[in-house]
Amino acid sequence: MLSVRDIHAGYGAKSVLRGVSLDVPRGAVVTLLGANGAGKSTLLKSIVGLLQPTSGTVTINDKPLPNKTPDRALKAGVSLVPEQRELFLSLSVADNLRLGSFLRRQTREIDADYERLLTIFPRLRERASQPARTLSGGEQQMLAIARALMGKPSVLLLDEPSLGLAPKIVEEIFTIIRQISSDGTAVLLVEQNAAMALDVAEYGYVLDLGEITLQGDAQTLRSSPVIQNSYL
Ligand SMILES: Nc1ncnc2c1ncn2[C@@H]1O[C@H](COP(=O)(O)OP(=O)(O)O)[C@@H](O)[C@H]1O
Ligand SMILES: [Mg+2]
Repeated sequence: MLSVRDIHAGYGAKSVLRGVSLDVPRGAVVTLLGANGAGKSTLLKSIVGLLQPTSGTVTINDKPLPNKTPDRALKAGVSLVPEQRELFLSLSVADNLRLGSFLRRQTREIDADYERLLTIFPRLRERASQPARTLSGGEQQMLAIARALMGKPSVLLLDEPSLGLAPKIVEEIFTIIRQISSDGTAVLLVEQNAAMALDVAEYGYVLDLGEITLQGDAQTLRSSPVIQNSYL
């Protein structure tokens, strides 16, 4: 479904990604692991057009993804939940969710998705009328994910959803990520937390200084010496 081929990208003269390729099949959870500074966020930004790669291609269902702006990417089916979440903090949970569907037209379908997401995220239903700023960090992460899903993407890109959150809420979020993928949305889960990411993903890649140095199914990666020594 989502294919990244030989992406090179950087900031000005600084090159960060040096020929990155990866695949996220339909309905799968794929994780991209890597230390701080490896280039994980740079790759996600290159996919959705927040950054123009110097070369390489991104396709979704074999069609080139217009790497211009995040809303063009969303129209093509790819949505990014950025590390900073970028919620509208003074708006209610409900309004944040509604804004996630801004590119869609079918109001009946949107209403049905809104209901479905509040069932997946019961904490958000309880807090639907509260301003987003009154939510805990974990709930804000849930809202950011749910808002992205209101755009009905085929592929969801998650940039370190576990960052700064307590293990218990991370577990809750990762359980929901599984559910999202079994509902048919493919997920690219970017994480430093390899142990948890490899529990939820079926396949993983390791990014090291802008290059994929290791890839395999989650079970193989979990027992690989490189992962054991550097990421677990
Ligand atoms: N806006 C930017 N301008 C210049 N350099 C950046 C910028 N954003 C990230 N970098 C650099 O690019 C490299 C990769 O960063 P990033 O993609 O954020 O890594 P990760 O998400 O894996 O922690 C780092 O060396 C970082 O300092
Ligand atoms: Mg990052």
